[in-house]
Amino acid sequence: MLSGKTILLIIGGGIAAYKSLELIRRLRDRGARVVPVMTGAASEFVTPLSVAALAGGKVYSELFDLTDEAEMGHIQLSRSADLIVVAPATADLIGKVAGGLAGDLASTLLMATDTEVLMAPAMNVRMWQHPSVQRNVGWLRASGVGFVGPNDGDMACGEYGPGRMSEPAEILAAIEARLMDGPMKGKRVLVTSGPTHEPIDPVRYIANRSSGAQGTAIALALAARGAEVIFVTGPADVPPPEGVKVIRVQSAREMLEAVTASLPVDAAVMAAAVADWRVAREAKSKIKKEKGALPVLEFEENPDILATVSQMDAGRPGLVVGFAAETDDVVAHATAKRARKGCDWIVANDVSPETGIMGGSENAVILISDAGSEDWPRMGKQEVADRLADRIAAALGMPPAGVLGAR
Ligand code: C5P
Repeated sequence: MLSGKTILLIIGGGIAAYKSLELIRRLRDRGARVVPVMTGAASEFVTPLSVAALAGGKVYSELFDLTDEAEMGHIQLSRSADLIVVAPATADLIGKVAGGLAGDLASTLLMATDTEVLMAPAMNVRMWQHPSVQRNVGWLRASGVGFVGPNDGDMACGEYGPGRMSEPAEILAAIEARLMDGPMKGKRVLVTSGPTHEPIDPVRYIANRSSGAQGTAIALALAARGAEVIFVTGPADVPPPEGVKVIRVQSAREMLEAVTASLPVDAAVMAAAVADWRVAREAKSKIKKEKGALPVLEFEENPDILATVSQMDAGRPGLVVGFAAETDDVVAHATAKRARKGCDWIVANDVSPETGIMGGSENAVILISDAGSEDWPRMGKQEVADRLADRIAAALGMPPAGVLGAR
């Protein structure tokens, strides 16, 4: 939650400004107070009336306002916030701040502040790639300005590539990661969750019974402790938590790609039930039912994401946590799995149908680390998640030798 926090939201002039309306709504749902500032160009895209209505208060514009100067002043406006968010951050606004220009209210606020700034850039692909914009962004990053996005995708101008503003949920996650206090503040953690779907043909796939409940609970627990969470999820039954960056994938190969693209992270928790095999030759069109002929599926091994990340030479997360869903000899199998894959901890559980754990709301796990195995009593999946998140926070909080010792 963001109760008691004030966000100064600077809305720049770009088509992505419409997403800022949704961002205001979500911020207020999370308990934040939003003070909106619009550039002149922004009001060509969204009306100050809509912004004021959603923010539940006055919109500050770039016009010099004597009342505001007397009552509050632009310097105080910029400093009374807990975070300044610029969304959309246009090439113009980025350039003004990087160049030290303060010709309007938005840029003056950004120049006059000592509050942390987070920018969500949005612009045409070529503009984003332009050396001057890249230089400005690099300079701002180096001087402590945070960035979220831009994402790759279709642009309003008809082009494709990086330049699309991050979605409101992603911006919210980045804001929460900065503002939520907790033992994991400043830590970046990757969580995989859910099953994977391995295609047979365009309409059929092979899947498993994972609901994504445990991974989702872990992501929520980590975010609640102030971590910046990247949540890579297969097609799960439960919706992803608020306040995390969500990357949706279908197959194991897509999951591996999303995971490697999200590194570096301080810790990785691989709770996904990744399919071990995929169909060797995915049919390009729907396989037809033919009398007397049954399709024969051949399989191929999927990449092992946990092993790949655990065994990386460069950029390996400081702590890698794997899961082991077993139906017999849980500790022995999970201990062997930990050694084989090279992860630091394994959270093992018995998923025999009679336990009701897979797809259920409870879990009974055994945490396996260098220190041996530790049985946790049966409890709700959120409680397991909270306990695991506390252990991860403790391990990451220790000096490097301590983290090694905790493994
Ligand atoms: O080998 P097994 O599937 O039992 O191992 C479970 C652990 O390995 C889980 O943490 C799961 O997320 C991970 N895994 C993976 N990639 C695979 C298979 C499993 O990351 N292809």
